[in-house]
Amino acid sequence: NEEQFKKVLSHAKEYGYVFQSSEIYDGLSAVYDYAQNGVELKKNIRDYWWKAMVQMNDNIVGIDSAIFMHPTVWKASGHVDAFNDPLIDNKDSKKRYRADVLIEDYCAKIEAKIDKEIKKAAKRFGDAFNEQEFVSTNARVLGYKEKIDSILTRMGKSLQAEDLADVKALIEELEIACPISGSRNWTDVKQFNLMFGTKLGASADSAMDLYLRPETAQGIFVNFLNVQKTGRMKIPFGIAQTGKAFRNEIVARQFIFRMREFEQMEMQFFIKPGTQADWFEYWKEHRMKWHTSLGLGEENYRFHDHEKLAHYADAATDIEFNFPFGFKELEGIHSRTDFDLKQHEEFSGKKLQYFDHEDNESYTPYVLETSIGLDRMFLAVFSNALQDEVLEDGSTRTVLKLPAVLAPTKAAILPLVKKDEGLVKLSKDIIDDLKWDFNVVYDEKDAVGRRYRRQDANGTPFCITVDGESLEDNTVTIRHRDTMEQQRVKIEDLKSIIKKEVDV
Ligand code: GAP
Repeated sequence: NEEQFKKVLSHAKEYGYVFQSSEIYDGLSAVYDYAQNGVELKKNIRDYWWKAMVQMNDNIVGIDSAIFMHPTVWKASGHVDAFNDPLIDNKDSKKRYRADVLIEDYCAKIEAKIDKEIKKAAKRFGDAFNEQEFVSTNARVLGYKEKIDSILTRMGKSLQAEDLADVKALIEELEIACPISGSRNWTDVKQFNLMFGTKLGASADSAMDLYLRPETAQGIFVNFLNVQKTGRMKIPFGIAQTGKAFRNEIVARQFIFRMREFEQMEMQFFIKPGTQADWFEYWKEHRMKWHTSLGLGEENYRFHDHEKLAHYADAATDIEFNFPFGFKELEGIHSRTDFDLKQHEEFSGKKLQYFDHEDNESYTPYVLETSIGLDRMFLAVFSNALQDEVLEDGSTRTVLKLPAVLAPTKAAILPLVKKDEGLVKLSKDIIDDLKWDFNVVYDEKDAVGRRYRRQDANGTPFCITVDGESLEDNTVTIRHRDTMEQQRVKIEDLKSIIKKEVDV
């Protein structure tokens, strides 16, 4: 829903969540800055993930590896040769497209067209109309859907040379069915390396070519044995990491969904060969539980199992989320076999093996990976939370219903009258007490009703109003953001009331 997405963008800016990078210089495309509220929300999401992974699992530990890595890492991982993006140019319009994004756009257009046809047919046939029958007998439409799905799945992996011609042929066919470019004159599809290069060293001759890492995972693979030995880890065990990754995305759009500099939260789980199918199911279930625990609505998630697999994987699925622009990948769960460790053994000449005392044998472990984009998770949480509500009296309010555990500010303290010294002092005393446990803010400007609305839009779960009565009996009014219910409570109980909602 385009309207809703526009609202998300402007709300994120207006309330200090996300700004365009270098805005005073007209911005840098697909690069964003997290503002005063955004940085807190992002940190809370990261902590929520870290807790679920590292704190709650005694066989998972964390690391923080460097962004720069030895250049051979990216040869071993396959990124130098295969981490490519398919581009296609329209010769007439001189416009360049990322082929998979272009196909997705055609797909959306075709779906809209089908919807329209369905509505027309429903009107024509009245009660006798059977939507499923209509769609399934529409062979032409289904034909496209299958073709599109198969090509997009292939594009999610690394495309082989022979696939490129298929991609071009599909785009030509789709342009006829549902024009986007307005011209049928395309170049061949070309591959493009996504890694940002940089140099290490002072003089031009001795400088070493480096890459900014395009994923955090490789920092975990190359440290596998160090962590296993120093942590005396027994298989199965996991290593978790959060950190920046960089990809020179060609068509970067949809706000923080696809960025050039982004953050990943990845976990590699090292297992005994042969047990990967069970662990794949285990992590699918656990990661889905983590998502639904936030209460964004179970109907907003779905699995998308990959049929065509990358060369290193023997099973893969995406957890997709219902973003304002439809269901899209939020997290990937991949059964990576021993591909990565074996590659690093080959390129480094070092053994990366585990001695299993129970079975009295050595082996290169298999890896089960869970990988989620922190910025994408931010967008999922933020866009889901932003709601316009019509109240009983017919007025509307904009409210950001962030899960309390993730909200940047947990409570706002509002003296009913800003000129009343006693109320101001008591409000500040309450803040001085609560700030040891939570992020809280003081807000004295405007009538209290307007302050409530401002905090609603900011996502603050609680407003605490201090009034004349408070000075006499040490009670305050606490207002709940989502229900707008107000309770009179003792000041000394505030901490436990808030804690109950914001603690995991
Ligand atoms: N180590 C596996 C890996 O990196 P991926 O599917 O390329 O797999 C994992 O990326 C996750 O990282 C994605 O599911 C997505 O959430 C996030 N991600 C990938 N590219 C991104 C981008 N350009 N901007 C924001 N998030 C991105």
